[in-house]
Amino acid sequence: MKFTLKPTDPGRIEADVLLIFSWEDSPFEIPQFNVQFNNHIIETAKRENFEGKSGQSITVSTQGVISSYKLVLVGLGKKGDFNLFKLFKTVAEGVKITRTVKPAKIAIHIPHDWMEKFTPEIVVQSMVEAVKLSSYQFLKYKSEEEKRKFREIEDVILSVKAGRIASAQDGLERGLITSSAVIYARDLVNEPAAVTTPTYLSQAALDLAKHSQECIKTKILEKEELEKLGMDAFLGVAKGSDESPKFIHLSFKPKRANKKIVIIGKGLTFDTGGLSLKSSEHMETMKLDMAGAATVLAVFAALRQLKPEVEVVGLIAACENMPSGKALKPGDILRAMNGKTIEVLNTDAEGRLTLADALSFANIKEKPDQIIDLATLTGACIVALGEEIAGLWSNNDELAENIGKAAQGSAEKVWRMPLEEEYKEVIKSKIADLKNSQSGRFGGAINAALFLAEFAASTPWAHLDIAGPAYAEKETAMTAYGGTGFGVRTILSYLCSC
Ligand code: BES
Ligand code: MN
Ligand code: ZN
Repeated sequence: MKFTLKPTDPGRIEADVLLIFSWEDSPFEIPQFNVQFNNHIIETAKRENFEGKSGQSITVSTQGVISSYKLVLVGLGKKGDFNLFKLFKTVAEGVKITRTVKPAKIAIHIPHDWMEKFTPEIVVQSMVEAVKLSSYQFLKYKSEEEKRKFREIEDVILSVKAGRIASAQDGLERGLITSSAVIYARDLVNEPAAVTTPTYLSQAALDLAKHSQECIKTKILEKEELEKLGMDAFLGVAKGSDESPKFIHLSFKPKRANKKIVIIGKGLTFDTGGLSLKSSEHMETMKLDMAGAATVLAVFAALRQLKPEVEVVGLIAACENMPSGKALKPGDILRAMNGKTIEVLNTDAEGRLTLADALSFANIKEKPDQIIDLATLTGACIVALGEEIAGLWSNNDELAENIGKAAQGSAEKVWRMPLEEEYKEVIKSKIADLKNSQSGRFGGAINAALFLAEFAASTPWAHLDIAGPAYAEKETAMTAYGGTGFGVRTILSYLCSC
């Protein structure tokens, strides 16, 4: 898919489809083509009850009056209600509608109001992301015939006012980098767990460094080194599996850095629950349990090109959670790298065990200014916030606020949740420092966050529980079924703002 910016009059762009937009406040305020054709569009709109509401659209044949074969007009809703989320959604939906013509080349006319409300850079970046991400399908295991049916749009032309081309060009480049990273994360999540083993993830991390002209370095810590470091919580989870655990360490070090930030991704390449085995229904999608790791790898893939002025360390404790004769048992006690002991009451609460050691490693070995973790940590977070919103916990208001802002600017939904002191009783064990699971069902996502907080210690830390938004069970305008690459754009935007 190739994107081009053109300062041309939209009526003169040769394409299979021209996509234009209009507001509910003034549904017929559209580009001036010629009087007759503009009247024809208005006629069609009236006949089909198009009022510029969001979700509404009409498709018009152009009969050669303008240079594109078809025209699609999509409603934007009210000007006052418009935001970046709506921009993503309408562009993505618009592109889906153009697909009915099986286009090789589409043109999109960017409304001038968007440029004023946001900036040309942000608008173009978001549009490129919306077009690329809404066109994504995981077709690797489909027949050639099926693949052909999903013919990719080859050319996308964005019509931009001449004076805005330079900043729009920056947005275009950023949009290409970030959307490729998101797609990389989606592919990693969508591959079956038989493919994306801990070894596969570590190889992916090594490959990232290889193609980075030295700006990224990867180290893989093997089981023996992890034993020496005292990462028994992580190793405890891994020991039921025949796949060897890998602790992946990525680092990005620019010449000048304002801060050092560690990002940690939960890397369970499959979560059966271990001896506290999941039901088959709950296990079905558990290849997704490395989505946090995929996000971290994708962030590094983009860092190579975006090069922000911040030092970034990526950590992934990658393993499988399997039941076997060697598996961790309920009642076992593990000692994490920071010395804290954990009574394991439920082997399905494994994510917090692996993260306990990753967080300890971050604090002890890296001494960062900030830590951010992304984890498909609890089903309870999906109960609380649904499938589209990630829970955000933090011991630092400024960090939480800045991540919230980065998410909003990336059209990803996060909602801050409390680290409620009074609930801490639930993670206290009678015979160890902590226990990994509570007896009741209530507040499960908060309790998991409180558990992690014990290992983040006093470092400014933010935790994103992405169990809901990491994986789409239903297709939406922006995401096909499967991995979504959630968090990649938010974290990149945050790192670039540091
Ligand atoms: N990986 C799961 C959480 C999850 C559930 C992610 C659904 C995505 C979709 C996690 O390891 C888990 O099993 N959590 C348990 C915790 C419980 C045993 C305290 C859960 O949420 O049920
Ligand atoms: Mn689990
Ligand atoms: Zn899990």
